[in-house]
Amino acid sequence: MSAVEIRNIQKRYGDVETLKGIDIALESGEFLVLLGSSGCGKSTLLNIIAGLAEPSGGDILIGERSVLGAHPKDRDIAMVFQSYALYPNMSVARNIGFGLEMRKVPASEREKAVRNTARLLQIENLLDRKPSQLSGGQRQRVAIGRALVRNPQVFLFDEPLSNLDAKLRMEMRTELKRLHQMLKTTVVYVTHDQIEAMTLATRIAVMRDGRIEQLGTPEEIYDRPATLYVAGFVGSPP
Ligand SMILES: Nc1ncnc2c1ncn2[C@@H]1O[C@H](COP(=O)(O)OP(=O)(O)OP(=O)(O)O)[C@@H](O)[C@H]1O
Ligand SMILES: [Mg+2]
Repeated sequence: MSAVEIRNIQKRYGDVETLKGIDIALESGEFLVLLGSSGCGKSTLLNIIAGLAEPSGGDILIGERSVLGAHPKDRDIAMVFQSYALYPNMSVARNIGFGLEMRKVPASEREKAVRNTARLLQIENLLDRKPSQLSGGQRQRVAIGRALVRNPQVFLFDEPLSNLDAKLRMEMRTELKRLHQMLKTTVVYVTHDQIEAMTLATRIAVMRDGRIEQLGTPEEIYDRPATLYVAGFVGSPP
């Protein structure tokens, strides 16, 4: 059974074709990375899966069910953006639990979920702090915690680490990998960083100009690039 199925997704803005027919079937527990240079359509595709944008053609299935037209909150997904805004006046605990609060989850249940999530992300000792009292990496963890706490079918990440310095980015990469191995949730992760893609992905979709140039495991992409473009993009040096 596919956890997420992207069927012939197209997106047009006026005369410009941003996505030109994308097909990917994701097994449950896969970590798919959408990799490609700026403007190739990664965020557009992710936003369509999330329900933040509607496609011009094609279909999105989550858990075998078409979600076209369904509101983002009814898609059983959680999204982490590049520019995550934490609520500055709320504690870390309340930031993590706010989504549950909005859904009227009882306080005792909420508290338990927040504590479990914080433990997973190793920020249990920071729950009473305000975001301004945290480092960049710790803030990033809180943003991920906010998504994690909801225990969705699918996580969507749009360049969540690009605001961090190189060292922190590496640490968070390791952390995300550990979390995924533990939780085995299905993930779609957008980045233009090939090292991030190689280390995190179970499969990589290399995108170029609204199309998939190659879809495969990191090893396949690296050892047997289908095109010169893929070889240049993933190879180091190009
Ligand atoms: N609302 C919009 N109206 C018109 N064009 C848009 C709109 N949103 C995106 N585009 C165009 O669609 C193309 C793909 O954009 P998208 O944001 O998906 O790229 P991306 O791969 O995420 O790039 P980046 O790595 O820079 O975030 C770009 O050429 C962009 O200008
Ligand atoms: Mg983008």
